[in-house]
Amino acid sequence: MRVGVPTEIKPDEYRVAVTPAGVRELVERGHEVLIQAGAGLGSTISDHEYEAQGGRILPDAQAVFEEAELVLGVKEPQPQEVELLRPHHTLFTYLHLAPAPELTKGLCESGATCVAYETVEDSDGRLPLLAPMSEVAGKIATQAGAFFLEKPLGGRGVLLGGVPGVAAATVLVIGGGVVGMHAAFIAIGMEADVFVFDRNIDRLRQLDVAFGGRASTVYSSTLAVEEMLPRADLVIGAVLIHGARAPYVIKRDQLKLIRKRAVLVDVSIDQGGCFETSRPTTHSDPVYEVDGVTHYCVTNMPGAVPVTSTFALTNATLPYVLALADHGVKGAIGRDPGLRPGVNVAAGGVTHPAVAEGVGMEFTPVDEALGAAQTA
Ligand SMILES: NC(=O)c1ccc[n+]([C@@H]2O[C@H](COP(=O)([O-])OP(=O)(O)OC[C@H]3O[C@@H](n4cnc5c(N)ncnc54)[C@H](O)[C@@H]3O)[C@@H](O)[C@H]2O)c1
Repeated sequence: MRVGVPTEIKPDEYRVAVTPAGVRELVERGHEVLIQAGAGLGSTISDHEYEAQGGRILPDAQAVFEEAELVLGVKEPQPQEVELLRPHHTLFTYLHLAPAPELTKGLCESGATCVAYETVEDSDGRLPLLAPMSEVAGKIATQAGAFFLEKPLGGRGVLLGGVPGVAAATVLVIGGGVVGMHAAFIAIGMEADVFVFDRNIDRLRQLDVAFGGRASTVYSSTLAVEEMLPRADLVIGAVLIHGARAPYVIKRDQLKLIRKRAVLVDVSIDQGGCFETSRPTTHSDPVYEVDGVTHYCVTNMPGAVPVTSTFALTNATLPYVLALADHGVKGAIGRDPGLRPGVNVAAGGVTHPAVAEGVGMEFTPVDEALGAAQTA
């Protein structure tokens, strides 16, 4: 299989979808790896390091897409990349399609098979390719929140951990999954007063044990959220329903319950955002204000720390990349059923039910679409 790795072009994105170690594994199994010149530079990986492991450097994205069968990415394809996709391509990257009908339509029209990192499941129904970036984003969420609480940056001017004689700030984390737990651990480490809300009682039990009494867990009812909002200095939104658009956990009319200059960090923004007043922002311009409340809604938070994120991501993706390269999509799904929910678009149809519902398009079962793709 010819595996292509273009340079990421989303603003402020410095990750890359393969490391020299990944190139070596692919080449040793007889695959060819085509890398766009400079693709690894944002993660401090030179072209020479790829070449030393058997990778071939191509001058631009067009050349990579032209030669490759399996295209690896990090963030969702940008419009100029969608134009380069053809029916014989398999695209393997984060897609976050539920809140993105335009992109979904573009991918359907390309005819390519598009496999989303964030909906691949392991044998326990967890999300092994979202988890490493959620660990990073969770940790950044608290760091960023603490930063934007500083007065010169528009914040309330409170220190998360307080000092002897002055109370710590209150951090509310809504959604206690991978992002929420890591955000909470950093907040605990900064000595804030931390509350984690979730709707899954078993998850709250696990968190309670993990926190060892250093943070409180709360069942996330609308009333419980409303009672906590007036106390919160920093609110981190980290809810997820697999593949679906994020539900709103703070509505526009609830903003008035929040203190002026408090900070909301919406990590779920890549799934459309879990605060009604959220809209996507970038690392270059990360925050804006609504009703006196700072909103931080960066859609590619781990892109800010590429040296950590690239290696964390590719450690997790490599076994799946090898399976796709060795066996193709159909063969890989046959061997690992957790890859099936990863297929979001194939042969012009939307093949993930939550994505189809999110974008208001018809759902086509994966096997039906892949069957059509093979006979086309
Ligand atoms: N912005 C970024 O750069 C970035 C990076 C990584 C992950 N993310 C996003 O962060 C979000 C969370 O990811 P994760 O890996 O932690 O997911 P996860 O599945 O591990 O956790 C989500 C949690 O939300 C809980 N939940 C669902 N609905 C809820 C509700 N209404 N109220 C309270 N809790 C609710 C679930 O029970 C679960 O525990 C996802 O949307 C993911 O795509 C964003």
